[in-house]
Amino acid sequence: MIQVENLTKKFKDFTAVDAISFAVGAGEFFGFLGPNGAGKTTTIKILATLLRPTRGTARVNGYDVIREATAVRRSIGMVFQDPSLDDRLTARENLELHAMLYGVPRREIAPRMAELLELVGLADRQRDLVRKFSGGMKRRLEIARGLLHRPGVLFLDEPTVGLDPQTRNHIWEYIGGIRKNEGATVFLTTHYIEEAEACDRVGIIDHGKIIALDTPAALKAAVNADVITLQAEAPGEAVRAIREQLGLRAVLTDGVIHVPAGNGAGERLVPRLAAAVPALTALSIRKPTLEDVFLHLTGRAIREETAGALDRMREVRRASARRGG
Ligand SMILES: Nc1ncnc2c1ncn2[C@@H]1O[C@H](COP(=O)(O)OP(=O)(O)O)[C@@H](O)[C@H]1O
Ligand SMILES: [Mg+2]
Repeated sequence: MIQVENLTKKFKDFTAVDAISFAVGAGEFFGFLGPNGAGKTTTIKILATLLRPTRGTARVNGYDVIREATAVRRSIGMVFQDPSLDDRLTARENLELHAMLYGVPRREIAPRMAELLELVGLADRQRDLVRKFSGGMKRRLEIARGLLHRPGVLFLDEPTVGLDPQTRNHIWEYIGGIRKNEGATVFLTTHYIEEAEACDRVGIIDHGKIIALDTPAALKAAVNADVITLQAEAPGEAVRAIREQLGLRAVLTDGVIHVPAGNGAGERLVPRLAAAVPALTALSIRKPTLEDVFLHLTGRAIREETAGALDRMREVRRASARRGG
């Protein structure tokens, strides 16, 4: 359903997408996992014919994205980061408008809308103005709209970004339902590990390049290592102590320090880490996640925090506590 060869996109001298190649089969649930700025949106925009590549070729549903752009556009559904619903219309009217624009046969519109509104859990809100919807409801409606004309491929660019964790899980359940009931090919981009873990195959993208591509299980197996995670009162100091005293690569993300260990080497490292890290508050050993795969390949976390900034924040808090504020 998607065939990409040597695709490159440059913005002046900057290469946002760097000679990537990959293919996605019919019915596959395919994901691009990568940090902000990796080139995910640029790739998806080229595939959706919204951007022209600098070099290389891409076919979607068998159509060339440059020479057969109109045919590509008619055969895909898209949910992009910028909302594109009409706030002044009801949910139902938004869908009707889309059905007409895409030439969905008249008598198919009502049953198809009913089916999709049910699928995204908005059947009872279909006559409400979109203006009154929460961010999560709008995103769900956009997903329903993207599927309305039965596209061969649905593009979802970070479908849950900017939503709270609970809404994110909720949307994820609906996307799971689509996968089961619609059988559409889905290409999604994300920087959330949980979303990538649910894909059939994942391409890990960094600095415009695909650095690994396989099933989540195979990607994790290739790391062949234990992962130690630990928490400490001063995470920045802890990262430095681990790097300096033990010579190990430690990375801080979401307040948790990750230390990769060789396969089976985790347990031997635990006492050494406990001795090196001041004010250790938690420690555990586990098998790698896709986050660890990224870390293993790049030496960075997908959402890496800088230790310095965290220490500064703590310092400010301590100072304000001393002042009694
Ligand atoms: N229109 C543009 N002009 C110049 N640079 C751009 C443009 N669009 C994206 N970029 C740059 O290309 C890189 C990849 O961006 P993007 O594809 O949006 O990444 P992602 O979606 O993975 O966060 C970023 O460094 C971004 O700043
Ligand atoms: Mg993006």
